[in-house]
Amino acid sequence: MITIYKTIDPKNIKDNLIDCFANEWALITAGVEGDFNTMTASWGFAGEMWGADSLAVVIRPQRYTMEFIEKNDYFTVSFCGKNRSIHKVTGSKSGRDCDKVLEAGLTPIENDKYVYFKEARLVLVVRTQFVQQMRAEAFTDKAVLDKWYPDKDYHNMIIGKIEKVLVSD
Ligand SMILES: Cc1cc2nc3c(=O)[nH]c(=O)nc-3n(C[C@H](O)[C@H](O)[C@H](O)COP(=O)(O)O)c2cc1C
Repeated sequence: MITIYKTIDPKNIKDNLIDCFANEWALITAGVEGDFNTMTASWGFAGEMWGADSLAVVIRPQRYTMEFIEKNDYFTVSFCGKNRSIHKVTGSKSGRDCDKVLEAGLTPIENDKYVYFKEARLVLVVRTQFVQQMRAEAFTDKAVLDKWYPDKDYHNMIIGKIEKVLVSD
């Protein structure tokens, strides 16, 4: 089946992105045609930054996807509905160890800048502008540190400009 997408302005996204991240979960995909990786993410936020519609995600340094974020200009955030059979693979296995696309049954739509998936109902294409790892000293709420970072694997904060939004018909 062919998925037909229309492009909309980021300000016209009808979805509540807080709810989408928290309950639907997203696929963060970085890389280009033939050389990309994808992973599940349930943390992220959208808003205004540096005069533009922007998106932030947080990725722990050990994720294979992080390597692709660092060596490419774009990443995509795909929402595929509450499709837990996809996330069972993309949220627990590393692209270092298996072919996640094959195992999760995903159908990549690839070009020379970014990759997303036919299974997505909403795709945000983001151009990376900022990557920085969180520092323990910067946390004013130490309870967050204790709860989320027992291994000191502080997230990288990645902020970018939303360049394109695709919604399936
Ligand atoms: C529901 C859910 C949400 C997740 N959210 C994040 C996240 O926001 N950031 C992150 O670094 N890892 C997150 N993960 C973990 C990665 O998806 C997981 O470690 C994945 O296997 C990494 O794959 P990779 O090594 O191929 O990049 C989440 C996992 C699940 C199941």
